[in-house]
Amino acid sequence: MEHIDLQPGFVFSPQPMYMIGTNNEDGTPNFCIITWIGFSADNGPCLMMTIGGTKLTKTNILREKRFSANMITEDTLWLADYFGTTRGEDRAKNVLPYTVLRGKMVDVPLIGESHWIYECEVIRHIPLGGAVRCRGAVRNIRIERAFREMDMDRIVLTRIRPAVYSPYRYYSVGELLGEMGEWKTRCGVSEAVSSLPEKADGMSFSPAPSGDAPAEDFRVRRMQPSDARIFTEEEIAQGWYTDISKFEGRLRDQEAGKCISLVAEYRGRPAGYVHVYLRSTEGPYAGTDLPVIVDFAVLEKYRRMGIGRRLMDEAERIAGRYADAVCLAVGLHSGYGSAQRMYVKRGYIPDGTGIWYNGKPCIPYETICTADDDMTLFMMKKLHS
Ligand SMILES: Cc1cc2nc3c(=O)[nH]c(=O)nc-3n(C[C@H](O)[C@H](O)[C@H](O)COP(=O)(O)O)c2cc1C
Repeated sequence: MEHIDLQPGFVFSPQPMYMIGTNNEDGTPNFCIITWIGFSADNGPCLMMTIGGTKLTKTNILREKRFSANMITEDTLWLADYFGTTRGEDRAKNVLPYTVLRGKMVDVPLIGESHWIYECEVIRHIPLGGAVRCRGAVRNIRIERAFREMDMDRIVLTRIRPAVYSPYRYYSVGELLGEMGEWKTRCGVSEAVSSLPEKADGMSFSPAPSGDAPAEDFRVRRMQPSDARIFTEEEIAQGWYTDISKFEGRLRDQEAGKCISLVAEYRGRPAGYVHVYLRSTEGPYAGTDLPVIVDFAVLEKYRRMGIGRRLMDEAERIAGRYADAVCLAVGLHSGYGSAQRMYVKRGYIPDGTGIWYNGKPCIPYETICTADDDMTLFMMKKLHS
């Protein structure tokens, strides 16, 4: 390929677009467009943006140190274009009708028509000649309810339809080109896979305590159809009464967006699994928005290697995106002894509804039951303080 050189005064950089919401001094909302925007993560996700020149957004942010970032999508461009080409210092931007909501964690205006919104607190700002660079810690993410069931590690961008800025025009995003790592494999490069890539929120697996197998031997990924047969055969071989339909049902639920099914691989072999249902459908929290961790197991030959801990770390991380707490039910007989101990060590506490049997709460001195797998105790863990 032959190249030419351009002067550095020229920048071509396709960028995401956000409507930045701030409070005016009199409490009314103001919005503008910012496209010089990017994300980073250290202690949680941060949004960095550069605001140039004199504008009301800049004055408001420097005074209040907070803002909202409302993703601009194809269907909100009509509003965004107006905000981005009208100066707030000249007039109140109320010519077009739109809905103003208030932030849940940060007192900032949000746009009701936006599908994806960040509420941010400015933790640092750096003056840069005529511009200022702000670093906002994301304190809350408000998304349209319809996206709730989406797998947050594999967001379908074409469903959200963000608009892209490419000076001085707006574009939509195109089709999916592949999964991360897929192209490396297609190019014939094969290497030992380590754990999941570092997440956008800056959290990856916690360091393995001594005694754990090395991190590069593990990977946590979504459950796939071929896992069903492998787990069924392995569990039968270790003396469990497993039917393949159990896994097939979970895979169908995952396909329908009801759950995220995780598999831990050890040296490329499926070693354990767990499922995160985004809403409880049975037990004390049926019908609520509380995620529930279901059917957690590590094959016996892979135990005491830290696999269960890694699976639970990932399951709780996923649940934590949807709610402040997560629940699970644990069996009460000795077969669940190690799970009971692990849940307590991880901070799960009984939810106070007592013993459940066959999906119903036991009535004191009345319910007669057997200590089988259907006798359970619900436990809950707070994920965010
Ligand atoms: C597509 C587009 C992208 C923009 N990106 C930025 C940006 O990254 N930084 C910036 O300071 N201004 C940017 N602007 C300009 C502001 O949005 C614009 O000056 C706006 O009128 C400021 O409103 P305010 O006075 O209410 O704050 C952009 C405008 C448009 C239309």
